Amino acid sequence: MKAAMKAGAKKDFPVDGIRRFLEPGPIVLVSSAWKGETNIMTMGWHMVMGFSPSLIGSYVWSENHSFDMIRKSRECVINIPTLDLAPTVVRIGNSSGREVDKFSKFGLTAVPGARVKAPLIAECHANFECKLVDSSLIRKYSLFIWEVVKAHVATSPRFPRTIHYRGDGVFMISGEDTGRYRRQFKPQNL
Ligand SMILES: Cc1cc2nc3c(=O)[nH]c(=O)nc-3n(C[C@H](O)[C@H](O)[C@H](O)COP(=O)(O)O)c2cc1C
Repeated sequence: MKAAMKAGAKKDFPVDGIRRFLEPGPIVLVSSAWKGETNIMTMGWHMVMGFSPSLIGSYVWSENHSFDMIRKSRECVINIPTLDLAPTVVRIGNSSGREVDKFSKFGLTAVPGARVKAPLIAECHANFECKLVDSSLIRKYSLFIWEVVKAHVATSPRFPRTIHYRGDGVFMISGEDTGRYRRQFKPQNL
């Protein structure tokens, strides 16, 4: 299975600004590493919980192979795929790292992270290196609270065509952007 083209050159990105990629709720790919093994899962259930420090909450079902990998390593990378990767995103969600090596099966490129052992997915528009900062809600809610400690974002396009899940196999594709409401916007709303 051949993956889509790699995203273009990336630059360091301020972690307090990465929420701009997550506020519209795109489907993300969570990559992880534990004891020499790597894995990827598709994830839709995540939320921004703060911007400085940069916090993200995510729900990961305990039956997923990724659950143990991220709980034990206390790290992951949240990767932002774009429309060209949609078929791969679905296939990653349909398979388990217990049975397949998803990087090799789906032709994705693992790039070492700067602050975590979990690999970045080169083909994605952005990659957020995360460390687990609060594990107290995992047992009760399967909720992981992450701090983004390093972010890599493609220099263009500014607004990538991300995919957003509507359930039942239907995705919304991000489309038109508008700055029409900017003048009414209170700066304190960030
Ligand atoms: C569009 C989509 C969204 C998903 N969102 C989540 C999610 O938010 N949390 C979760 O635990 N699983 C989610 N899944 C399911 C996992 O991606 C799936 O169970 C995956 O196979 C787990 O892989 P693993 O066993 O290698 O960890 C989603 C799947 C798809 C296709």
